[in-house]
Amino acid sequence: MRQVLDASILKDFENPFGLKHGLPGVAYVSDEFWRYENDNLFGRHWVFVAFAHQLADSGDVAPVSVGGQSVLLVRDEANEINAFYNVCRHRNLQLIDETGNCGRLIRCPYHSWSYDLCGNLKNAPYFGGEANALPPDFELEDHGLMPVKCAVWHDWVFVNLDAEAPDFENFLQPILNQLGDNDVADYLPVATIEFGEVKSNWKLLMENFIEPYHVQFVHKATTSQPLQDHYPIIDKHCLGSAVDLSEDQVASAGEGTLGVTSHYLTLFPNFVLGTYQPDQLGVHLNIPLSAGVTVQRRVIYAHKDAVYSEQKIQQIKDLWHSVHLEDHAICERLQAGRHSAMAAQGGVLSPHWETSVRVFQELVAAAIRPSLQK
Ligand SMILES: [Fe+2]
Repeated sequence: MRQVLDASILKDFENPFGLKHGLPGVAYVSDEFWRYENDNLFGRHWVFVAFAHQLADSGDVAPVSVGGQSVLLVRDEANEINAFYNVCRHRNLQLIDETGNCGRLIRCPYHSWSYDLCGNLKNAPYFGGEANALPPDFELEDHGLMPVKCAVWHDWVFVNLDAEAPDFENFLQPILNQLGDNDVADYLPVATIEFGEVKSNWKLLMENFIEPYHVQFVHKATTSQPLQDHYPIIDKHCLGSAVDLSEDQVASAGEGTLGVTSHYLTLFPNFVLGTYQPDQLGVHLNIPLSAGVTVQRRVIYAHKDAVYSEQKIQQIKDLWHSVHLEDHAICERLQAGRHSAMAAQGGVLSPHWETSVRVFQELVAAAIRPSLQK
């Protein structure tokens, strides 16, 4: 039987008195809540879906999952990345099922309807009977692929399923403000880490990145960033934290640990960017597949003027691999804990260190509230 969630699940979250509570466990484990997120959160926000350099050539295609919908990304002959609903207009077959190159046409394998890289239907063979015959009331131009709004910022591809999507430049502005003079266009990808599926709700991975409170405990062996040097960042829907270290602190950081001034920034809902002085960026893609499963990939970027040896790149990859696995172990246990009856009240949030987590959760609550029964 279909479960129906009502507004009472947010009772403790919305309590204006005392310590703030987090979102209830049901927000992380319920299929119903996941459907609400698909409809009203991922279906209405700019969602980070891919790295542009992984669609390098004309004809490169990738299927991505957004708000429960399959979306097809394709780089066209003018070097633009386009997004479409990933279904043929004839019988709605899913067109692209794996990353690759389709050449100059996206061809449906069922009846060979073919679309150019801008989504225009070019050929519907035998649809009217003979080889090139078309029915009298059928025009190719009326049956192109259905477009999805798509925008690329440096190496990062975003889509928005909402035809009334807010302006992408406005969406970016808070993170641009936080980056200041640090121009992401100066950074080039040097390595990718594929983590595959993490058995955690996407929000736990985001919340964990946003707050600095856990770093001293979870990343004791991999970081040299004292808690007291951190501060939360809340700038509209750009949420995160930062740690500013002195030259002495950087010089005395533990061998092989992360011990530099770092900014940990997100854009709601799922874009994650870390800056690591003086010359490194990291971006991770969290792709939610269900309430309990998220696929994660990290791309490491180096400043164009930095000289990174193969050995250094491998060391950086190894470090980030370790840091992420430390976080995944925690997020998977957080996910397990969300099934407990004890999680109905959502725990409590630090009024000092988890303020940005609270704002993240308020944005989630605001998005799904219209779906909840009164
Ligand atoms: Fe962490």
